[in-house]
Amino acid sequence: MRKFAWLLPFALLVVPACSSPAPPPPPPFKTTVNMKDLMLNVLDPAADVIWESVGTIMTLEGTFEKFPATDDEWAGVRGSAIQLAESGNLLMLPTRSGGSADWIKDAQALIEASGRALKAIEAKDKDTLFTVGGDIYDVCTSCHSKFVVPTPVKP
Ligand code: HEC
Repeated sequence: MRKFAWLLPFALLVVPACSSPAPPPPPPFKTTVNMKDLMLNVLDPAADVIWESVGTIMTLEGTFEKFPATDDEWAGVRGSAIQLAESGNLLMLPTRSGGSADWIKDAQALIEASGRALKAIEAKDKDTLFTVGGDIYDVCTSCHSKFVVPTPVKP
């Protein structure tokens, strides 16, 4: 026995490699609403807060710059950027994406652009936030142009 004791570490190394366990089953995701409801209640309101947070308002009295002015206002926009970034993951759930590579690419682009919005908000950088708002809009339209089937016009 003493003679083969040095072999023991090798034996321990080899054993785990032989028994590869089956991959765990996917988590039991359970979506509660359809795409239309997700868009109208999660993505659209969050995007609106970002789009409406920065811009130029023209009135008869003159032109005004609009941007979050107080910490509370910045915190509100930050919450919406977080909502939008995380909603990209909701779009990637298999029951929603159907495994489409194009769909997943747009969902990832949404997470990426919303992440940039979050950084701009945390830096209180209104000009970058305005630009990134445009990028977010481009992501929305990119997916819609590929996947939203236009309502047929009645003859
Ligand atoms: C990965 C794809 C995808 C992305 C990204 C996406 N959408 Fe959508 N959106 C859809 C699909 C699919 C529908 C059609 C849903 C239906 O009616 O079945 C839709 C529909 C909508 C609608 C119309 C809902 C209605 O009244 O019928 C709005 C509003 C909307 N999206 C807003 C947004 C906004 C804002 C963004 C970006 C912040 C966005 N969407 C990003 C896929 C996407």
